[in-house]
Formats: sequence, C-alpha cells, structure tokens
Amino acid sequence: MLSMLAVAQAVLAQEPLRVTSPNGRNEVQVGVVEGRLVYSVKRDGRTLISPSTLGFVFKGQPVLRDSMRITASSRSAHDETWTQPWGEVARVRDHHNELRVSAAETSSSGRRFDLVVRAFDDGVAFRYEFPEQPNLTSFEIMDELTEFAFADNARTWWLASNRPRLDRSEQLYSVGPVSTIDSVQTPLTMKTTWGTYMVLHEANLVDYARMNLAGHRMENRTLTAALAEWADGSKVKGRTPFVTPWRTLQLADRAIDLAPSVLGLNLNPPNVLPSTDWIKPMKYVGIWWGMHMNKYTWSSGPQHGATTENTKRYIDFAAANGLGGVLVEGWNVGWDGNWIANRNAFSFTQPYPDYDLKGLAAYAKSKGVKLIAHNETSGGITNYERQLDTAFSLYHSLGIDAIKTGYVTDTVDGGHDHWSQFMVRHYRHVIEEAAKYGIMVDAHEPIHDTGERRTYPNMMSREGARGQEYNAWSGDGGNPPEHETNLFFTRMLAGPMDFTPGIFDIMIAKQPGGPRPLEAPRIRTTLAKQLALYVVLYSPVQMAADLPENYERQPAFQFIRDVAVDWDTTRVIAGEIGDYVAVARKQKGKANWFIGAITDENARSVAVPLTFLTKGRSYVAEIYADGPGANWMTNPLPVTISKRTVTSASVLSLRLAAGGGQAIYIHPSR
Ligand code: NOJ
Ligand code: CA
Repeated sequence: MLSMLAVAQAVLAQEPLRVTSPNGRNEVQVGVVEGRLVYSVKRDGRTLISPSTLGFVFKGQPVLRDSMRITASSRSAHDETWTQPWGEVARVRDHHNELRVSAAETSSSGRRFDLVVRAFDDGVAFRYEFPEQPNLTSFEIMDELTEFAFADNARTWWLASNRPRLDRSEQLYSVGPVSTIDSVQTPLTMKTTWGTYMVLHEANLVDYARMNLAGHRMENRTLTAALAEWADGSKVKGRTPFVTPWRTLQLADRAIDLAPSVLGLNLNPPNVLPSTDWIKPMKYVGIWWGMHMNKYTWSSGPQHGATTENTKRYIDFAAANGLGGVLVEGWNVGWDGNWIANRNAFSFTQPYPDYDLKGLAAYAKSKGVKLIAHNETSGGITNYERQLDTAFSLYHSLGIDAIKTGYVTDTVDGGHDHWSQFMVRHYRHVIEEAAKYGIMVDAHEPIHDTGERRTYPNMMSREGARGQEYNAWSGDGGNPPEHETNLFFTRMLAGPMDFTPGIFDIMIAKQPGGPRPLEAPRIRTTLAKQLALYVVLYSPVQMAADLPENYERQPAFQFIRDVAVDWDTTRVIAGEIGDYVAVARKQKGKANWFIGAITDENARSVAVPLTFLTKGRSYVAEIYADGPGANWMTNPLPVTISKRTVTSASVLSLRLAAGGGQAIYIHPSR
C-alpha cells in the first residue's frame, strides 16, 4: 500500500495535471499510475484524497480501468452569479476553474472518456463524459469503480445503505471513523483529525443509478462507489454520448460553513421552466398527524380523516391563520386493506364517496388556500405512471397545483431497487409531468436530492430522512434530541426536507391513552424547539404538523403564523454536528429576520451577535424561549414569550434547555 502511494506520488509529480479553486486552497490532480487514471484532492497543500482509481465494468466487455493514457487536456474558468426563484439564499455565485482530461485505453478496444474536474472555493467535483465511439455504443454498467481513498481516518456521520426496509433513508445517524464503515449513503459528512469538514455526495443525477458508498473496513479508508441496481443486477443502461452525475466533495474549515450548501446547485443546469411565477413556497396544515396518532384512518370507515366536513375545517383553519395549503391524505380510493401490498389499487383521480373533491377544490380556492393532493404509490410505479397524465390534468383543471408523493416500499414494481436508475427516471418523469401541468412536488421516500430544483424549481421538498412521523410510532421511542442537530449538517446539505415540525401536544396527552410514558414514542423536544425547527430545517413548504385543535389558545402558535418560508440570505451563527446549531435567515424581500437555535440532550447557552441587522436601525425581537424548568424529558411545554428592542450592536444570549430551542422573529420597530 505504502509503495503504491509512493509510486502514485512520483508519477503524479511527473504529470502534474492539476486544477485549483479560485482562492487557490483546493486542488485536484489527475494522472496515470500503472496504467490507471487516478485523481487526488488536496486542501492547503494537505492531502484529503490520495490517488484514487477511476473506471467502470461494462457488461460483456473488459474492465475499463487498467490501460489508460491521457491524450489531451484543456482548461476553463467560470464566474457567474444567478438568482433562485426560492431558496435559502436568493443569489448564488458559481465561481470555479475547470480541467478537462481526455483519456483513452492503450489496448485495442481504445475506449475513451473525458474526466471533467471543477474546483470551487467550497469544494471539488468531477464527472465522466463518454463521447460517441465505435467500441462503446449502447451499454450496461455493471459497476462504477470510482474510489475515494481518504488520507485521514476521518470521523463520519453515516446512514447504512444496505439494510432492506421500507425506506432506507429513515434511520438514525451513526458516528465513527471512515475505516469502520461498510455501506453508507450520501451526503456523507466527515471531519478530519485536523478539523477539515468534507461532505461526499453527488449532483445532477438524471439518468443514472443513485450512488451509495462501500467501505472495506480492516483499517482501510477507501470508499468505493456502489450503485443501486435494476432487478437484473445491472446498474446503468445507456448509450453514448453519455455523462455521469458529478461526484462532489464539499469542503469547509468549520461545521457552520457547510450550510447553506450550493455546490450541488452550481453543478445542475439552469431553470428550464418558461415561468416560475406560479411556484410559491408556503406553510401548510394537513389531515395527516391524525392518522399517525390513530385518531383518523386513511381508509374508508367511521374514522375516515378525509371527509368533506373535516377538510373544510382544515381549510377554514388555514385561511384564518394565513397558512397557504391543506394537505389531505386518504382522499382517494385504494387505502382499504393492506395499502402497502395493494399498490395497484390506488386511484389518483377517484375520491372516496364522503370526499367532495370538486366542491372542496372550489371551497379552498374561495378561501385563498391551496389543496395539496396526496399521491401514495406504495411503489406501484406502473399503476401511477399510467394515471399521471389524467390525474395531473384533473388537478390542474381544479386549481390544485401541489402534490405530495409517497413510495412506501423497499423494492418497487419489477423488483428494482428503490434508488435504481429505473426509479431515478421515474422521479424525474413525475417532476417533468408536474411542471407541464403547473404542479409543485413534495416527494416522500425519495431519491436523495442532487440539486434538481435548480433545473425544475417545481421540485420543492422531499423527505428522505427520519422525520417527525417517527415520533408517533417508531419502535425505538422516537427521534432522540440530537437527531435534528445531525440532520442540519448531513441530510439537509443535499436540499430541503419536509420534516413537518410544529407538534405542540408533545406528551401526546390529548390522544387516546393519555400522556405517553418516556419509553413510548413521543416527541423528544421542548415546545420552543418545535418553533425553532421552522428556521433551522429549511424547506420551502413547511407544515404546521399538529391537529388544528392543538393550536387553539396557544400563544406560541403566533410564531408559526409569522415565520417566513423563503429567504434572501442565511447565516449559520454557531453549531457543531450532533450538538447544537443556531441559524439566522432574512425573509425574502423584507427587512425581517428569523433566528432558530436547537440543542441536543444538553442544555446550553448560545451567543448570537445581531451584526447582520442594518446599522442605525431599531428592531423588535419577539422571543420564544424555553420557559422556567423546561426540558424535553419531563417538562417540555413551558415557553416564555417576550419582546425587546434590538440593534445591530445587540448580542442575544440564547438559553436552550435540555432537548430545547429558541425561536426569534426580528422586525423593524414600527
Ligand atoms: C409515509 C410518509 O412519510 C407519510 O408522511 C405518509 O403519511 C405515509 N407514508 C402515507 O403515505
Ligand atoms: Ca416516510
């Protein structure tokens, strides 16, 4: 191993094809070692990724890896600032240097590809581009051989990728050195022993398999691309010309510099929609938590949640409180019996008889509220795709311009992996069809976010992690208090999450059975932390997840009414992975700021200097803090609401209870 590295360095030194970031700190080298094309990554001259192999196994062909030579190279530089229709920040700078390396086999098959490398100040990325060529026309990739040979035994925050279950992203994070992991998902957040933060992920996944990572343990620090597969075992079917997704490594000196993450957005093509005016971030309520609480059923019967009357009540509640949408689950035929097994029974157009779809769509419209149509597929892709066009045109004709999709299943129709190219194509197809009909998408049980929202800004949010629902029924008692402080520095770096915050009945005291004991599933949070999550966990669609009746006569509900869902800027003030985080965001087009701070099971204080406020201006801070004696375990409900005048010179000291948080709304003094 050592001698291999020495050889690698010697050869790289002879052939110094390198590209550095505009600030000169991040560098990627590409060279040939013993016939293999390899790349390596450094920051400030320190190696992060040692020379790592590139290559592929194609079906019925020799391995493309072992007899490569570099035939040409070229360079370019790019600096452009673009505007997002919605997001954590309005303006994004794409500033990078690019190196294109053309490589070909020396053997008789002479297959070739370009490795395109981009170096940004916030990370590096590369992808393979295959031109049209005689010995590589239509192909099946059986394996991508891309390696990531980490130089340091960095600490990693990971989710396993190889556990069959209904949704494999819905796990709690594990922590350990890279040498101990076997099969993990991306984004994979890492911290070197000298304190550099790295996030390995992918961008612009359009017609390829999702990338997981395989580790080899036994003190080995190399991770290898592990692609999700079709039922027949192949990974990617295609024909040249062909490009792979970008393999991305975000880099930062501090955890707080990881967010907001724009590296992946910069590696996706610009918006293709002729107009984005109809795409509107919003807060919403839903006939949803009631099912997870066993108060309502999705299926028909005496407890059916999606009745005309109940939906009207939710619409009235949304309208009265300035919340933009109402999600209704269980409105459509197909939920009776085992809905996970009966995937082909779902109709996406036919309502249950006690749900007046047309009347409710008109009623919602008259109240200025959007109905959000729920499309649970249970992985019945054929059944869903067959109905897509009819369903979306029906929704469009009724003024329904938002859907929530769902894919509760492990393997989908035909036995393909949930994250296979088959499914990547499906999710993209849904986004494109939805865009045609002017429909926004919130996908649950999704493929991980790789920046699609830049090209299709109707792709709003997705789940793809353990959300609030686990606090209703998970066998392990619900999400631990540190969960959201992990999410912020891992899953959330990929993109928005429909976490569904805002549960006020934290002990679940008002549900059948009364307050739940500590070990039973319940929300391991304080009430103030539920408010802070609206600011901390970014999503352009944010649910007020609890039952409307649980918000009645609750002064803290005012924060949910006030909080914004679209931002000009985002500043991460303080935080460490798995411990705590404090975020400030400026409301889009307004002078208002919102601050959210959350902590794990430890109480702590966080200082927040308000230097981001306009100098010389006076503001009012409306503060929702953990009240006296509050803690997640025994006393989650006390919230102290106070107001104070602040300026850019003020420093707020946020006291967070164990499992607690704080939410602040700052607006100019009137
Ligand atoms: C799982 C989703 O995450 C949840 O929000 C939904 O209520 C159920 N599936 C039913 O579709
Ligand atoms: Ca889910």
